[in-house]
Amino acid sequence: MTGLQRESIDFGGLEIAFDERVLRPRTWTENQSWWAAELLPDLPPGDVLELCSGAGQIGLLAVAGTDRRLVCVDLNPAAAELTTANAAAAGRADLVEVREGRISDVLAPGERFPMMIADPPWVRRADTQRFPEDPLLAIDGGDDGLTVVRECLTAIATHLAEGGVALLQLGPGDQAEQVSRLLAGTPLVPGESRAYGDRGVLLRIDR
Ligand SMILES: C[S@@+](CC[C@H](N)C(=O)[O-])C[C@H]1O[C@@H](n2cnc3c(N)ncnc32)[C@H](O)[C@@H]1O
Repeated sequence: MTGLQRESIDFGGLEIAFDERVLRPRTWTENQSWWAAELLPDLPPGDVLELCSGAGQIGLLAVAGTDRRLVCVDLNPAAAELTTANAAAAGRADLVEVREGRISDVLAPGERFPMMIADPPWVRRADTQRFPEDPLLAIDGGDDGLTVVRECLTAIATHLAEGGVALLQLGPGDQAEQVSRLLAGTPLVPGESRAYGDRGVLLRIDR
């Protein structure tokens, strides 16, 4: 027996299992799924890639009702385990591929995705103790909060298909502006950002 207490939550109509090894699903992040779902019909064919997927709920809700495959990437073995269970519960076991590992290690050079969803940790390391209930791996964004965000941007630059869209979750404050500056001079174009108070920001990035 592991002693783990598995809970579940309604996430946009999906029943999502999670436990203390991953971030508790935040219902406001359904907005990232709904935005992706709204864009998907007009995007080129292909799989959806979800980076930093946790229990997989954001990606699963984004592709619900489509026949797109979902590829989920997360470093945490517990996230991979829960995503596999949640995909099966959503009736998508055959349409979800779970890759356990660092973003930089689990994507093949030639892979391209028309939609990328990313939810990296973005809390500055010095501030992580403000969130004692959250697993450190899920929130620790390094010294400036942007360490894993930069890893996501590298993956987006490499793996976002021509005509594709990435939706990146960031912290409140000026992280969206910082990311927009990092993208200057690249083929990636930062677009609309949607702010959700002190909970976070969603930034659209086009190629
Ligand atoms: C903010 S949590 C988001 C989880 C999930 N999307 C959610 O909303 O509950 C960030 C996730 O990124 C994963 N992670 C952190 N660094 C990573 C890396 N370098 N490569 C892949 N996953 C990483 C963590 O394990 C964690 O599950």
